[in-house]
Amino acid sequence: MIDLHSHVLFDIDDGPETLYESMRLCEMGVEYGIDRIAATSHLYHPDEIATFLRRRNDRVLRLREEISRRGLPLRIYAGAEVFVDDSIFQAQHLEKVTLNGSRYLLIEFEFHGLSARRLIRYVDTVFEMGLVPIIAHPERYSFLQQDFALAQFLAERGAYFQINADSLAGLTGFEEFDLAYRMVRHRTASFIATDAHSHLARGNDLLRMIRSFPPDISRETLDYMLYTAPSCVLSDKEIPPVRRSEHRHDGQRF
Ligand SMILES: [Fe+2]
Repeated sequence: MIDLHSHVLFDIDDGPETLYESMRLCEMGVEYGIDRIAATSHLYHPDEIATFLRRRNDRVLRLREEISRRGLPLRIYAGAEVFVDDSIFQAQHLEKVTLNGSRYLLIEFEFHGLSARRLIRYVDTVFEMGLVPIIAHPERYSFLQQDFALAQFLAERGAYFQINADSLAGLTGFEEFDLAYRMVRHRTASFIATDAHSHLARGNDLLRMIRSFPPDISRETLDYMLYTAPSCVLSDKEIPPVRRSEHRHDGQRF
């Protein structure tokens, strides 16, 4: 499986502090079914891109070296989780922090109080840059928990959504679970990822979390959200629509 959202890099954000801790996260991911990770460290301000890239590229190289030295069957792809606020209106060169150099930009916002109008402007600004937004963990935003139609509106506009596996596993509270589940059932979300920060707390034990997903989420849906769609992102291809047959709920699981 592909983990499209992970704070696996060390000494760059609120993820692991050391290479050792990054490796623990990598080992946990492999143990629980992950073979590709997009390293999506936080980028909080567009002015910081140059500094961010220097640091991120160094951490990616060092982590890849250690993975290869230890023979771990895991590939690391460079990316970022870009915090979007009004500074995006002046932002330049966000194409440098897309997922594996693709057209797809993983973005997040403040968790409360964002108006629909502003959210739509932010998403449109990403499109105007020639990029395709993937909105991280929509189920965590109160303004989407209270307005599912807004999420559907953004999806129809061409934005993509990535929900967190722990939300869908019911580990983070009812509101988050409820929206995550609705977005999977209605095909509003295209990706599931871990948003892992540490092997100790917010981990990437993905297969274990999948066992706690609602039983009516089919194997086909999981394949699409954890492999087919993220694989298109990493290779900069268009994301195929979900096949209608995937609407059946046969209860098959990994
Ligand atoms: Fe994140």
